Amino acid sequence: MPTQNNVDIAPAKGKLGVLIPGIGAVSTTFMAGVEAIKRGLAEPVGSLTQLSTVRLGKRTEARSPYIKDFVPLAGLDDLTFGGWDIFEDSAYESAVHAKVIERGMLDQLKGPLSEIQPMKAVFDPQYVKRINGPHVKEAPNNMDKARMLMEDIRQFTSRTGASRLVMIWCGSTEVFHKPSACHENVKKFEEGMCKNDPEISPSQIYAYAALQSGVPFANGAPNLTTDTPALLELARDRQIPICGKDFKTGQTFMKTLLAPGLKARMLGMSGWFSTNILGNRDGEVLEDPGSFKSKEETKLSVLDQILQPELYPSLYKDLYHAVRINYYPPRGDAKEGWDNIDIFGWMGYPMQIKIDFLCRDSILAAPLVLDLVLFLDLAHRAGMRGIQEWLSFYFKAPMTAPGLYPEHDIFIQLMKLKNTLRWMRGEDLITHLGLEYYD
Ligand SMILES: NC(=O)c1ccc[n+]([C@@H]2O[C@H](COP(=O)([O-])OP(=O)(O)OC[C@H]3O[C@@H](n4cnc5c(N)ncnc54)[C@H](O)[C@@H]3O)[C@@H](O)[C@H]2O)c1
Repeated sequence: MPTQNNVDIAPAKGKLGVLIPGIGAVSTTFMAGVEAIKRGLAEPVGSLTQLSTVRLGKRTEARSPYIKDFVPLAGLDDLTFGGWDIFEDSAYESAVHAKVIERGMLDQLKGPLSEIQPMKAVFDPQYVKRINGPHVKEAPNNMDKARMLMEDIRQFTSRTGASRLVMIWCGSTEVFHKPSACHENVKKFEEGMCKNDPEISPSQIYAYAALQSGVPFANGAPNLTTDTPALLELARDRQIPICGKDFKTGQTFMKTLLAPGLKARMLGMSGWFSTNILGNRDGEVLEDPGSFKSKEETKLSVLDQILQPELYPSLYKDLYHAVRINYYPPRGDAKEGWDNIDIFGWMGYPMQIKIDFLCRDSILAAPLVLDLVLFLDLAHRAGMRGIQEWLSFYFKAPMTAPGLYPEHDIFIQLMKLKNTLRWMRGEDLITHLGLEYYD
């Protein structure tokens, strides 16, 4: 049966520029992976946009196209990369330093990765402690710095000929802070930038520059960034889609797989202790209590929102949940995360689950960056604006409309994502009711 799109989606014509504040482990692993896949040297494992299908109609119809054939996404050959960092290292040098991808592979990709030279960053050592670098913009106030970023964006566009852009924050985790008076609306935010209000963080200056330039913005870190009335207002007014926060990889990914399952069976939980060791630059920044507090907030909120102790007090009201991160240089990016989960069953009998996840942080994060870039560009071409809740699937602390609690269950998030794609294309939403098979 012919269907009609619920939204008009402009075609993905021309190049898509991917602008990244933070040319570190995650972003270089993402860019190196795309270059390797384009050359047939690797597979896009972990990416829904490249590998996943979406079922359409009834199970008897056998219609399950690839997502990339179902909605018009930019192709990998059309991506062109740029970014900013406080260090001058090219993406190749930064990837060598990060030691995520083996040197033999990196050297095959040296050409395209060496061409990605970071632009000077907007940086404030009050927001990221423990690292500092020389490659930063100097200007009397933060509004001037935002204008310099907008000029960088213009020059990148004319240099690469990109027809569309997406910005994704892969910079270090900024210290925890809450929205304040300067975040109340765009006017106050702009005044705050002119006055160098200390409550405005560098990631917010990038986000402002992106939104003012008509560029969708995703936040891969737990920073406050666009989660303020001012930047939400700007995104809506400028008709720009945004999403965040904090890529859901590693230990929290495991949590959102397991916790909904235990809750689905109405098993109780008295404790969940998570600890891990990692030795990359991200781990070093997270040694600072302010940055750790940003991370801790996003990591801790997950269980409470999945288990809903207010609805199930006998199962979850006494849950003790703790998260630790330990910087341990010998491990580099190859993190190890341990979880001890104390659960209880029928008649309150206690049981334990232990997880030892020897993961690779940036290998898990890179496909998320790819999907977010392609989906945000799709949303923009489809005229969608403001918070894109259907992209919650990718985040530890999904942004939601004010007053709405986030959905953390990864299977509900996946259904929401695929139903949004079905909705865009005018296909029936899948409810999994299925009574019609038994009529
Ligand atoms: N790897 C994962 O699984 C994962 C998961 C969730 C979130 N994250 C977040 O993603 C971000 C990137 O992680 P990573 O492992 O690549 O870290 P990284 O330290 O390797 O890279 C971050 C880069 O950002 C740069 N930077 C810091 N402040 C900047 C600024 N104001 N402007 C431009 N550049 C700036 C740093 O110099 C560094 O090169 C971190 O915030 C991390 O917490 C990572």
